[in-house]
Amino acid sequence: MSNSLKSQFLLDPDVVFLNHGSFGATPRPVLEACQGFQLELEREPVRFLSIRARELLIESRAALAEYVGVGTDDIIYFPNPTTAINVVARSLADAYSTGNGKSAEGRPPLRLRAGDEILTSDHEYGAMERTWRYVCYRTGARFVQQHIPTPVTTQAEFVERFWSGVTPRTKVIFLSHITSPTALIFPLAEICRRARAAGILTVIDGAHAIGQIPLNLAELDADIYTAACHKWLSSAKGCAFLYTRPDIQPWLEPLVVSFGWENDHPGPSRYVDWHQWQGTRDLSPFLSVPAAIKFQKDNDWDAVRRRCHLMAIDTRRRIHALSDLEPICPEPVVPPAGAAIPDSAAWFCQMFSARLPQVNVDLLRKRMWDEYRIEAPLGPWRDQVRLRISFQGYNDQTDADTLVEAVTRLLPAVAL
Ligand SMILES: Cc1ncc(COP(=O)(O)O)c(C=O)c1O
Repeated sequence: MSNSLKSQFLLDPDVVFLNHGSFGATPRPVLEACQGFQLELEREPVRFLSIRARELLIESRAALAEYVGVGTDDIIYFPNPTTAINVVARSLADAYSTGNGKSAEGRPPLRLRAGDEILTSDHEYGAMERTWRYVCYRTGARFVQQHIPTPVTTQAEFVERFWSGVTPRTKVIFLSHITSPTALIFPLAEICRRARAAGILTVIDGAHAIGQIPLNLAELDADIYTAACHKWLSSAKGCAFLYTRPDIQPWLEPLVVSFGWENDHPGPSRYVDWHQWQGTRDLSPFLSVPAAIKFQKDNDWDAVRRRCHLMAIDTRRRIHALSDLEPICPEPVVPPAGAAIPDSAAWFCQMFSARLPQVNVDLLRKRMWDEYRIEAPLGPWRDQVRLRISFQGYNDQTDADTLVEAVTRLLPAVAL
């Protein structure tokens, strides 16, 4: 089956691209919007950077804020989630900035001290784990990774298991919304609710969530949330955001200090002033977000997501039929036509992680590329071999069939 969306992406047609999750892929109209801003800048760099880009940034933040259901000034762009989480984690390791130990609103900001705990899972992204461990090295706090065994069962059981790691010393909960190694959608709403009641700060890494699953940050009610727009929202690369609940925005220190600190012309939001302007840099990926949102709207993204979700369920089933290994999560129930995808109890949406038997991983990866031109992350995780597959609008059934054919033929040849 041919797929008309495919022609809107610049991906090499000879590659079976099943790795949207790593860096995304940007559709042509969105890339053109981004490049249009770069060209506009070069015509009049001074006016563009000092006036026009600032106006465009407000428009872009407004479009993104509306998309995720929060206020325009509660969102700031960063090039990637690593930078955004560094702002948060390093602020928590910092000394008080206001001199009297109080934030501008009079509430003492959270600062980590020796013995405090940051509770997380053992499914997190390596760069984030390192950031938090660095902060622990600076402060003497502890990074506590609650073991989440697979297969996961129910959302309720996950919440209880995770919550059993909370102690009186837990000051921060850090969790992925959709995990990198296991592609699991973590049920966060109940955890955020309990954390708020317990006075624990929630910091969520939603790198894979925006654009892949419906996202309403007001409903989720995490304190802090970051996501990469260039992954599943398909903006130009180098675009992530950091949402912070208004009353804790004063807790965050600028990672890069520039004119927004001691601003000669303060804007309506100190949060935006302190973090947005970081010296001369290319802002065009940030400005491409409205085009990315429009692209998904113009192309009936709910239907695209549904098609990809169904393909993910079916392909995972076919891959697991090749071995007697138990999948890492139950199969999602598919909601009726017109209902939101994924179902609220679904553990994955457009991306899944399948277990493979013990094989020579390097050889399988090489042969999948050499013989089928399949681009998909494959590697060990814990004591298991994992293949992570992403389905995006440009993928079709032929891609899924090629993957299943490759795995079927190669697994016996690379078995250990
Ligand atoms: C769960 C998760 N968090 C964060 C990131 C961070 O991405 P970056 O290295 O672009 O900051 C990724 C990237 O794949 C990810 O999978």
